[in-house]
Amino acid sequence: MLDLLVTHATLPDGRTDMSIAVQDGRIVGVTPGFQAPAAEVVDARGQLVTPPFVEAHFHMDATLSYGQPRVNASGTLLEGIALWGELKPLLTQEALVERALAYCDWAVARGLLAIRSHVDICDPKLLAVEALLEVKKRVAPYIDLQLVAFPQDGVLRATGALENLKKALAMGVDVVGGIPHFERTMADGAASVRLLCEIAADEGRLVDMHCDESDDPLSRHIETLAYETQRLGLQGRVTGSHLTSMHSMDNYYVSKLIPLIAEAQVSAVANPLINITLQGRHDSYPKRRGMTRVPELMAAGVTVAFGHDCVMDPWYSLGSADMLEAAHMGLHVGQMTSQAAMRQCFEAVTMNPARILHLEGYGLEPGCNADFVLLQARDPIEAIRLQATRLRVYRRGLLVAQTAPATATLHLAGRPGTTSFQP
Ligand code: FE2
Repeated sequence: MLDLLVTHATLPDGRTDMSIAVQDGRIVGVTPGFQAPAAEVVDARGQLVTPPFVEAHFHMDATLSYGQPRVNASGTLLEGIALWGELKPLLTQEALVERALAYCDWAVARGLLAIRSHVDICDPKLLAVEALLEVKKRVAPYIDLQLVAFPQDGVLRATGALENLKKALAMGVDVVGGIPHFERTMADGAASVRLLCEIAADEGRLVDMHCDESDDPLSRHIETLAYETQRLGLQGRVTGSHLTSMHSMDNYYVSKLIPLIAEAQVSAVANPLINITLQGRHDSYPKRRGMTRVPELMAAGVTVAFGHDCVMDPWYSLGSADMLEAAHMGLHVGQMTSQAAMRQCFEAVTMNPARILHLEGYGLEPGCNADFVLLQARDPIEAIRLQATRLRVYRRGLLVAQTAPATATLHLAGRPGTTSFQP
């Protein structure tokens, strides 16, 4: 007898009336109309079953700290960085762990079961590193938490950052981070990319750098990142996050740059919620959009994900661990309104970030982990439109979160009875 059988599911690729059979935490069959005895049978009733949402870019050390020690008055990136600097000396391990665990609860409820989080390593005590390594251990049964050693104040610019970064990796942090545009000069930025990629190559690590999070069209560290990726044989293991300067770059230069990124198999993460609010702050009108060239990167074959980046922290006072919110904003900012492009936006918060994180056993195929989400939506486009309710979330075949369907009931004058529907 099976442990679990989900029937009448619609899959993200459009297949309908599919049955998903689960045994011992793994998917053992994905077959149209299949019926068999199972300890638990869930009728999806034609609704969408998707592999879990995946977050490719987050800051779990800062999340849910909104208002501590004060609110970001200007709402700018630089005041956010300054505010984080004010908060750092006040942090305690207990508070960090508590906030991160609370966020992980939000994530599970939204079907978000894998998160790549940057962790600031500039504090010599590495308090946040210790805290998030503890969180990683505690959430492992329900969330894959991957940590990036992130030198927020610049690996070359901040005293001791390089040693801290190496220490953080030795302690168990997974990925090498960086922030070349925050180094003192363009030359230092390029040197930081080279240095950090060499560390990653030596230690067999993945790389994910905050790269060119700026409106300066001459911030071209992504070019160096693609070059170093090829020079060091890191193809398929490197991600450039934000890449917002590409929005403002000269089109002729970008026509050379995007093929270079594709050739190096460097992935990209756009963070549309954050960058639409943080970028273009020096503009009057017209104001530039704060997002990299997502459709063009995708068309060139680059793996692109949408990240949430921040939730209720010094940089962003909103957010709810909902990757469909990030997809919704990315779709709008990128004008990705064709049917195919809207589906690509769904992939940008599921399959694509799973590839970026190098997640094993991800997907809805026999042999994959039995991790999936039943949504109150008929297809990926409706899921984005409604930011649909996650009715049931499964991890290794076990139900880990459940939310009642959204239903509105109308009581209208001149209309006998009541009408109930999904709003
Ligand atoms: Fe970030």
